[in-house]
Amino acid sequence: MNTLKSKIRDIENFPQAGVTFRDITPLLADHALLQQAVQAMVDPFRDGNITAVAGMEARGFIFGSLAAWELGVGFIPLRKPGKLPHQVGKVDYQLEYGSATLEVHLDAINAGDKILLIDDVLATGGTARASCQLVEQLGGEIVGCSFLLEIMPLNGRKQLESYSLNSLIHY
Ligand code: PRP
Ligand code: MG
Repeated sequence: MNTLKSKIRDIENFPQAGVTFRDITPLLADHALLQQAVQAMVDPFRDGNITAVAGMEARGFIFGSLAAWELGVGFIPLRKPGKLPHQVGKVDYQLEYGSATLEVHLDAINAGDKILLIDDVLATGGTARASCQLVEQLGGEIVGCSFLLEIMPLNGRKQLESYSLNSLIHY
């Protein structure tokens, strides 16, 4: 995992002063390491009878789609508001500053579906917790939540205590 970490680039003072942004694009550009990362993200859940992977716009689409491919199941996009054309379910949640909404097509999830939730980063956990709630509103079961990297001091895992959690790189 140290090799994976070597492909995460630290950008100081982005998007605002005092914040260190963990830039995943060097890892995305490396086929072998990207494949290793996606496989490690799904490995704990291979026996979980996953029926679909859900991922959050935008960076969750990258890892979520690859994870779905790796598991041989379909992908469900959880989108920022106003983007999905059919009937949607939605969840509102709080960010550090302000609020956000995620939407999903109502017919994308059926009762009893076993969903693996995938995103690039677990920070405060607000995005992931809201995503789990959205999936559950539609009758889906969250089999697990898996992230490329986790910002440990923000304690996002506290928001996900009731779920099986996997993350590869820790800051
Ligand atoms: C980032 C990241 C996670 C989320 C984690 O998304 O990709 O989805 O923040 O933060 P949290 O645990 O505090 O909720 P963001 O919407 O900032 O950007 P993106 O559209 O590039 O994915
Ligand atoms: Mg995101």
